[in-house]
Amino acid sequence: MEREEAYRKITELRNELEEHNYCYYVLNQPVISDFEFDMKLKELEKLEAGFPEFTGPNSPTQRVGSDSTSNFEQVEHKYAMLSLSNAYSEGEIADFDNRIRKIINTGFEYVCELKFDGSSISLTYKNGRLARAVTRGDGVRGDDVTQNVRTIKSIPLQLRGNDFPGEFEIRGEIVMPFSVFNELNAELEQAGEQLLANPRNTAAGTLKMKNPKIVASRKLDSYFYYILGKDLPFDEHFESLQKAREWGFKVSDATEICKNLDEVFAFLKKWDTARQQLPVATDGVVIKVNSKHLQDNLGFTAKSPRWAIAYKFKAENVSTVLNSVSYQVGRTGAVTPVANLVPVQIAGTIVKRASLHNADIIQNLGLHLGDTVYVEKGGEIIPKITGVDTAKRNPMFQPVKFIDNCPECGTKLIRTEGEAAFYCPNEDGCPPQIKGKMEHFVSRKAMDIDGLGEETIELLYGQGLAKNITELYELKKDQLANLERMGEKSAQRILDGLEASKKVPFERVLFALGIRFVGETVAKTLTKKLHNIENIQSAKKEELTEIDEIGERIADSVAGWFSKEENRQCVQKLKEAGLQFQISGEKLLGSTEKLAGLNIIISGTFNHYSRDELKEMIEQNGGKNVGSISKNTSYVLAGKNMGPGKLEKANQFGVKIISEDEFLKMLE
Ligand code: IVH
Repeated sequence: MEREEAYRKITELRNELEEHNYCYYVLNQPVISDFEFDMKLKELEKLEAGFPEFTGPNSPTQRVGSDSTSNFEQVEHKYAMLSLSNAYSEGEIADFDNRIRKIINTGFEYVCELKFDGSSISLTYKNGRLARAVTRGDGVRGDDVTQNVRTIKSIPLQLRGNDFPGEFEIRGEIVMPFSVFNELNAELEQAGEQLLANPRNTAAGTLKMKNPKIVASRKLDSYFYYILGKDLPFDEHFESLQKAREWGFKVSDATEICKNLDEVFAFLKKWDTARQQLPVATDGVVIKVNSKHLQDNLGFTAKSPRWAIAYKFKAENVSTVLNSVSYQVGRTGAVTPVANLVPVQIAGTIVKRASLHNADIIQNLGLHLGDTVYVEKGGEIIPKITGVDTAKRNPMFQPVKFIDNCPECGTKLIRTEGEAAFYCPNEDGCPPQIKGKMEHFVSRKAMDIDGLGEETIELLYGQGLAKNITELYELKKDQLANLERMGEKSAQRILDGLEASKKVPFERVLFALGIRFVGETVAKTLTKKLHNIENIQSAKKEELTEIDEIGERIADSVAGWFSKEENRQCVQKLKEAGLQFQISGEKLLGSTEKLAGLNIIISGTFNHYSRDELKEMIEQNGGKNVGSISKNTSYVLAGKNMGPGKLEKANQFGVKIISEDEFLKMLE
């Protein structure tokens, strides 16, 4: 085939297939059969293979996802992704309405929408093409998950029509339909694997999966509700949603203009029950001022817009029977009781287990085995038991008695005064605790060992190849390559990862050891003050508490950890393996006390350095990077797009605002 003809055919097929995707996934009105669709897709694949110069990331053939691993680059949001303030009653919505009326004297309308319970996403379109997809992250920076998002069929790769702005962002929710979620769980159950908690977490987890092909197979869906950009061609939010729909986005039909509070309340009432028929999870209604102009007048507080509020539906409450209670030991040794229930359907998913949190909760509920209990599914990961129907209790039912010994290793459990949880004290001999320590050791913020995650640790520990962190450094290639679902390549990746970890700076190694209460910040402080492991190991409790921010609890834990022979041996072995156990010369030389005693908050985006780099510089020079503005804040280090709420607060507390250049001058 001639190049020109191929190009024409490829373009034609692409448009046709995208149109069918739109009809099927957005409108729910398929025009052709799945078979016909597949035939056309195959034809396009073939043509693209013959003329690779015409393939592109936005072709429908790319929606199946490639097998290559995605690495999620952290990127800064152009506009921060804020959250919404919540309301739980009509009264709170009336308060919201009153607050608005104090600022706005003209008449106005609301738009009511469903609040989709998924994972929020921000998409950037340039010239009608999907350019970037970023997760919410911490609201300021998120993960670039474009490759995965391209596999979601209801998201347009190329927009329809021609009246869209050259560049804009659109925000929405990535959701996993109940049907897909329940199917996935049924498969996991068959395989005897741990079940997924809920569609929201599964959608979020799927978006962050490294293999886009698996993401494609997970059949995620999407709903969009907010457009941002410069010079947008509409004055009303409702209109913007209609436009988004025309351009090819999935916008919920359950979107209505409400002229007054009564109409808002009617919408809430209707959807409180109607939502049970929807294919995806919703957890409330978002009420927004319709006029964009009035939205701008109302502006934002530090965390959320003043022009919108989220009304949360009351959690669905269902009764079922308590079969038994089992006990799980976490990585810290805390023992959590879990209720095993006669399966019931709540909010679209089947519930078989509920968390009981701790012994006090069992006692307060007065639980007996066989009891009829009320189960509620709120925002939590696993549902909880909220009450017992004692009228249905049979006199033969026995009270639930909390176990005395660890279900994993048999050690007698202990409970510290004032703490709710029972602990297994056998830190170094109890399997979930050891595995937990190993997982923490290899995790991203600790040693960040490529190729080693929860599953591999489970395998290594289960096969007896590594029973603690030091043994990871004794692993041989053939041992790894022989493991299930592992090959030469993955084995080499792990060995390379372990080798690379020998360069990880001391403060992260210290954090990776998993000493209780020694988090990232404490590890940094200890490193900065005491410089090497020998000094930390030999420091008396009094010496430790003299250090700023190290209190009794941390000092006890550190001194206690090093008093154990096996821990000292662990350090010795890691030292022999070549890990860093002293502060790097560079850090030692580079560190100053120029910002000692100063609390600095970072806000916005910067020209020369990333926020992480600036944070590092503050700490390196003896200052403290803080998260929110208070009267104790010394400076706001402000870049572009500093949040309006922060600005307001800085003025309120009289905190000085400095630019990146002024900050750099302070360090000169
Ligand atoms: S509007 C500036 N509309 O809820 C506010 N958010 O708690 C923009 N969400 O982060 C958000 N459905 O992930 C909006 N119809 C809807 C929504 C919605 C779900 C999520 C979104 C947001 C969170 C706020």
